[in-house]
Amino acid sequence: MTYPSTARIFEVGARDGLQNEKQIVPTDIKVELIERLVDAGVTAIEAGSFVSPKWVPQMADTADVMQKISRKSGVSYGVLTPNMKGYEGAVATKANEILIFSAASEAFNQKNINCSIAESLERFEPVVEAAKNDGIRFKASVSCALGSPFDEEISPTTVAEVAKKLYGMGAYEISIADTIGVGTPIQTQKVLEAVANVIPLDAIGVHFHDTYGQGTANIFAALQMGINKIDSSVAGLGGCPYAPGATGNVATEDVVYMLNGMGIDCGIDLKKLVKTAWFISDYLGRPPVSSVAKALKDKLD
Ligand code: HMG
Ligand code: MG
Repeated sequence: MTYPSTARIFEVGARDGLQNEKQIVPTDIKVELIERLVDAGVTAIEAGSFVSPKWVPQMADTADVMQKISRKSGVSYGVLTPNMKGYEGAVATKANEILIFSAASEAFNQKNINCSIAESLERFEPVVEAAKNDGIRFKASVSCALGSPFDEEISPTTVAEVAKKLYGMGAYEISIADTIGVGTPIQTQKVLEAVANVIPLDAIGVHFHDTYGQGTANIFAALQMGINKIDSSVAGLGGCPYAPGATGNVATEDVVYMLNGMGIDCGIDLKKLVKTAWFISDYLGRPPVSSVAKALKDKLD
């Protein structure tokens, strides 16, 4: 078995993670979180989202966050944009990339962005056109790719169809997302095989939640297929406000520990990352869910 020699982590804690916190985290803490992550070696980061503050009040200060962070060259600071209004926010704050998203579940799309799968793709057309004109690259997510919170079967064919459309629209990467964290490794491979039949392998990314503790096992399954673009969240922050029962994203520390053990280089300093996991967790008043962050807590000096 051969594995990729490198992997790219796309750190989503500051958006996908903090959007799910009951408390609104102050701007300065978000800025420090992002800067610490970059200092630990993260080169691609989701810094916030320009969405309706009525829907997701936790992200209402994204413009301030984007303005306050000291940017490091070579690092891509991305924001999630559901529509043109969001896109304008991304441009005004000089985001390096934007994230668009749809889902393989009709019910989830309705709850998340108030429209069907087909409408969501149509809604992104103007955003995509503007991004292409402005030379801003975009990544796209397919949520609920391994299961839905709304009692419906998700077929790999549906996931592949949505992925193909988003890739056809020009996304540089399609992130296949197990939004509710129910998937298992062989199922993951079946879904990724369906997607790999319709878009290039190097345009496929993965995004797992750890609800059933399968996050790193599923990433291992993806690595076996040569897929090395991984979304993860420091301290395992996250969940999804529109996916009842979903817990956090797979923790970046757990992923980096596994990659280190496999000799796969992702450029991240594990100790600095674990210190960052404790920084945000201490602020939130609870320990990180990551086993690695807990195991390394007293071994950081
Ligand atoms: P709507 O209510 O259908 O849209 O929401 P609307 O156009 O009627 O707008 C309603 C209000 O929102 C208006 O304000 C707009 O101006 C405002 P009002 O006139 O009532 O005062 N508005 C905005 N404000 C700021 N920024 C904007 C914006 N757009 C409209 N961009 C909408 C539709 C898409 C806006 C709403 O449903 C929304 O914001 N949804 C976002 C929900 C969200 O962020 N979900 C999480 C992201 S997806 C995810 O987490 C999954 C993923 O991480 C993968 C995984 O984890 O598995 C990607
Ligand atoms: Mg997520």
